[in-house]
Parts: sequence; structure tokens; C-alpha cells
Amino acid sequence: MSHTPLHILILAAGKGSRMRSDRPKVLHELAGEPLLQHVLETARALRPEAIHVVVGHGAEQVQATFPDAEVNWVRQQRQAGTGHAVAEAMCGVPQQARVLVLYGDTPLCRASDLQALLQAGEGNLAVLGMELDEPTGYGRLLCDGEGLRAIVEEKDADENERAIRRVNTGMMAGPAAVFHQCGQLKPDNVQAEVYLTDLVALERRRGRPVALVMAQQAWTCMGCNTPLELERLERLLQRQRARELMQRGVRLKDATRVEIRGAVESGRDVEMDVGVILQGRCRLGNRVKIGPGCVLSDVEVEDDVEILPYSVLERCRIGAGARIGPFARIRPGTELQPHCRVGNFVELKNAKVGRGSKINHLSYVGDTLMGSQVNVGAGTITCNYDGASKHVTIIGDEAFIGSNAALVAPIEIGRGATIGAGSTLSKDVDPNCLVVERAPARSIPGWKRPKKPRH
Ligand code: UD1
Ligand code: CA
Repeated sequence: MSHTPLHILILAAGKGSRMRSDRPKVLHELAGEPLLQHVLETARALRPEAIHVVVGHGAEQVQATFPDAEVNWVRQQRQAGTGHAVAEAMCGVPQQARVLVLYGDTPLCRASDLQALLQAGEGNLAVLGMELDEPTGYGRLLCDGEGLRAIVEEKDADENERAIRRVNTGMMAGPAAVFHQCGQLKPDNVQAEVYLTDLVALERRRGRPVALVMAQQAWTCMGCNTPLELERLERLLQRQRARELMQRGVRLKDATRVEIRGAVESGRDVEMDVGVILQGRCRLGNRVKIGPGCVLSDVEVEDDVEILPYSVLERCRIGAGARIGPFARIRPGTELQPHCRVGNFVELKNAKVGRGSKINHLSYVGDTLMGSQVNVGAGTITCNYDGASKHVTIIGDEAFIGSNAALVAPIEIGRGATIGAGSTLSKDVDPNCLVVERAPARSIPGWKRPKKPRH
């Protein structure tokens, strides 16, 4: 590989009119991340000296979405075409560099194809092409005996040219000197835009060859201009991710009904039912079973955990052998030690729950430190918020909290304590005692219920 510094240009200034959206096109999401994020990751994998991102439409919004990105933002004031966008970015590229052009709306391009393109672009212009059954919308590649001769855009193409199925992915590589010529390109076409694609014919007129590299898998180089095309890319990417999971041994009930919007690590014999969504970074241990309709975001799940249907878990850790749900909600900061049970309509937030403790029905446990083998009865609430601040509830090992108890924090329930059902407690409870806080029942014999007045 060449040691000439590599500069990558990413074109992301377009309005994306065909998306019919107020959001800049490159901020639309694919697998839970903006399109531009995907392209940036691929670009970084090539270890360039610099990445220049051309922004224009919604530039502030685009830049604000990537506050920490180490890129050189280039403002294209007027979206006069891809050739104009490159010309603007080339101002920041040294004469002796190698250049790679990527598109912000082509998010799935593979580093391996780009490596091949860079190799073919040492000393001359090289274009990445692909073959499509349905080439509509793409620039067509016109070849002759010496290679690529020109690219004709769909709107400028005649009937014969439109029949060509080899198309331009948009990605190109070559010496900086070639791309520095973009300022000379003219908007002589139907759309009155400066086409980057005209660089091919220009090079050939100057007697220089243009290399064509074909993408390994065409779908990875497809762009998205419309919501329909975005959905198509999402399906292709999800299909690919599901396939990767299954290759690692994960059993999916239906590969078309699982969504991976991030990175998943998985152990052996993991099973997922339909409608599971995994977001961010999720780690699943061995023999983890996830029931239908569960959403897991940034979750660490140890071995032998079973997550029953329709549970929602976010930024939490689930210890080995736990059983969660159905319909459980586990919010950030929660850590369950092994063998806990969290049942239906239970919400946990920032709760540390000890080994083997059970919170099986209809409870809210927040900002809580709970020991092991605790039993929390149905309807128990930790009242952690006084309207101004959050307070902590501490529950000792083997405590038994009766149903419908309200624990007003800050409060500490001693180990082995028993709380009678329906109690509202705002004082600490000593270990091993029973506390019942309940108004005595009144009994009024022969009580007559009021009657509706008669007209
Ligand atoms: C472009 C190519 C076409 C190729 C297709 C592949 C040209 C003239 N056509 O068409 O040959 O088959 O991509 O997907 O290059 N952009 C700017 N500034 C501008 C115009 C566009 O930054 O002034 C950016 C857009 O934000 C987008 C990218 O360049 O990310 C491509 O522009 P777009 O208008 O989508 O081009 P296509 O019509 O798809
Ligand atoms: Ca496009």
C-alpha cells in the first residue's frame, strides 16, 4: 500500500428533497444511527490523514450531531452538484495526497471494496461500479476498449444507455491532482449541476486512463434518496446482521423479525423469539433466552437468564439465572445479582438487587440497595422522590415486604425484618422485627347504603 497521505471526502451537503423530510438526509437513521455515522466509521477504518465532510443543507444540525468527530467540516454554500462539492473540499487537500470520495447517503460501503478502489487509483482516477438488475436512478458506466470512458446520469441518458446495468456507486479514488480539476467542470447537463462524474470523460480527453473496480456485493453500495430506498437498505442490513448472529450459533425464530441497532456479543445457545430489538452494545451470556417483543438497550446479561415477553431493559446488568418479565421494565443503573426474579409490571430504576431476591408483581423499586433473598410483595413502592430530591431505600438480606407497602425514602429496613401488608413507613425498621402500620378496621353493623332519590 502507498504511503502517500490519504484524504477522504464525504459529500453530505445535499437537501435530500426526495426524502420529503425536514431533516437533512444524512441524519436519517439506519439501524439506529445516522447515515453519516456509518460512512464516518468506514472512513476511519481506512486510517486516513484527514476526513473532510462537505455540509450545506442543515449544516449546523449535521455538525451538532457529531460534536466530537475529528473531521474537517467544509461548508458548501450552494448545492451546485457533486463536482462542485468536491471542488470546495479540495481547497483543504494537499497537492501530493491521495483522495477517496464517499457519499453521505451510501452508508453500507465496505472497507474492503474501498481498499481495492484505492489500489486501482494509485496514479490515475478509479471508479467503484456495481451491477444492478434495477439500475434506475444511477449514473450508467460507458466503457470502451481502454476501460471506463464516461458516466452518463440517468436524466441525461438515451434509451440505449439506460439499458446499461453497470452503474456508478459514486465512490472514486485517485491522486489529488485529478480532483483538483473539479473547479473546471461545467454544469452542461439537464440538471444544470456540476457533476463529479464528468471527471471521467475529462481524464479520458486528456489521454489518461480511468480504472473501474466492481463492488463485491452490489447491495452494500446502494445509495438512498427516498424513504423507500432507506427502508430497503435497513432490511438488507438487518438481514445481514441476523445472518451473522446465526453464524455465531444464535437461534432466531424468524431472521426477518429481529432488529440489531448496535453491536451484540453472544455466548452459546442464545435464543431469540420474534420482535426482539437490541440497541447499543448488548452482551448476552450462554443459554440466554429472549422472549417476543423485548427491547434491550446497552444491556449485559449473564448466563442462563430468561427474559419473558415484552420486557424493556436499558443500561443495566442482569446476573446469571435471573428471570425477568413478562412486561418488566428495567431502567438505567440497575444491577441484579444472580437468580433474581422480576415479574410483570415491575419497574426498577437504579436498583442494586441481591442474589435470589424476588420482586414479582406490580412494584416500583428505585434508588434502592437491596440485599439477598428479599421478598417484595405485590404493589410495593419505594417513594424515592419528595418533589425536590431523590432518596435512597436500603433493604437488608432476607427482609419480607408485605404487599402494597410504601417505603418513604430515605429509609432502611433491617435484615430479616417483616413489613405488614399495606404499611406506609417513613422510619427505619430494626432487623428481625415485624412492623405493621395499618389503621384498625371499624365495623358498623346493619349499615344502610344511600339510595338514589325517586322522581
Ligand atoms: C449520484 C451520482 C450518480 C451515482 C449515484 C450513486 C453524480 C452527478 N451522480 O447521483 O452517478 O450513480 O450518486 O448513489 O454525482 N451532494 C453535495 N453537494 C451537492 C450535491 C450533492 O454534498 O451539491 C451530496 C449529497 O448530499 C449526497 C451525495 O452528494 O450525499 C450524492 O448526491 P445525490 O444528489 O444524492 O446524487 P445522486 O442523484 O444519487
Ligand atoms: Ca444519492
